[in-house]
Amino acid sequence: MNIETSRDRYDSAPLLEGEVAAEPLDQLRRWLDAAYAVPEIREPNAMCLSTVDRDGRVSSRMVLLRGLDTRGLVFYTSYFSRKARAIDEHPRVALTFYWAALHRQVRIEGRAAQVPEDESDAYFASRPRGHQLGAWASEQSEAIADRATLAERVAHFDARFEGEEVPRPHSWGGYVVTPEYVEFWQGQPNRLHDRLAYERDGRAWRIERLQP
Ligand SMILES: Cc1cc2nc3c(=O)[nH]c(=O)nc-3n(C[C@H](O)[C@H](O)[C@H](O)COP(=O)(O)O)c2cc1C
Repeated sequence: MNIETSRDRYDSAPLLEGEVAAEPLDQLRRWLDAAYAVPEIREPNAMCLSTVDRDGRVSSRMVLLRGLDTRGLVFYTSYFSRKARAIDEHPRVALTFYWAALHRQVRIEGRAAQVPEDESDAYFASRPRGHQLGAWASEQSEAIADRATLAERVAHFDARFEGEEVPRPHSWGGYVVTPEYVEFWQGQPNRLHDRLAYERDGRAWRIERLQP
């Protein structure tokens, strides 16, 4: 390993104004499709979510994109988690995708809001039973004595819901992030990367090229 000298070569096709979609979420969908088509990219829907709490303290963690529509980007989590508490205090968040094999990054800034309950119900019902039990067992972001305690909690809820569908805990659900700013970054030779930034301009989006 040599952190100081290792360098990947960014030799992908450039990202040009004339080729991108007018709507940033359409462009994101194009790039997600391209990432899903590359077998070596695991979980192309993984994105880094950054939040800021009432003290201005920023924290970041990965979450999985589970929906993309005209409203924005949807992910699911615990409504009692640290990230959820921060969103309650400050709805502004940032999301970042990075697909190394394509030399591509997407940065999104926007506002997060809980999705309607029926939407969370429908997504929760589609999850494997083990994941559903995990949502009941884990008080996400809280400390726990050891792994065995977590396993005991899973066994407890497994028994409680034996022979029936596991309902969605009210502490768990989705957020939709409505974007206000979206930037597409395409790595290019000599660090002269392409950056196209979409900023809201009334109902439309203005696209601006930024220096690398
Ligand atoms: C690739 C990846 C995907 C993840 N997806 C999710 C997710 O969709 N929802 C979630 O709550 N946590 C997800 N996690 C775990 C979070 O990164 C984090 O540990 C957890 O949500 C607790 O964060 P918090 O304490 O800041 O709320 C994922 C982690 C990784 C590495």
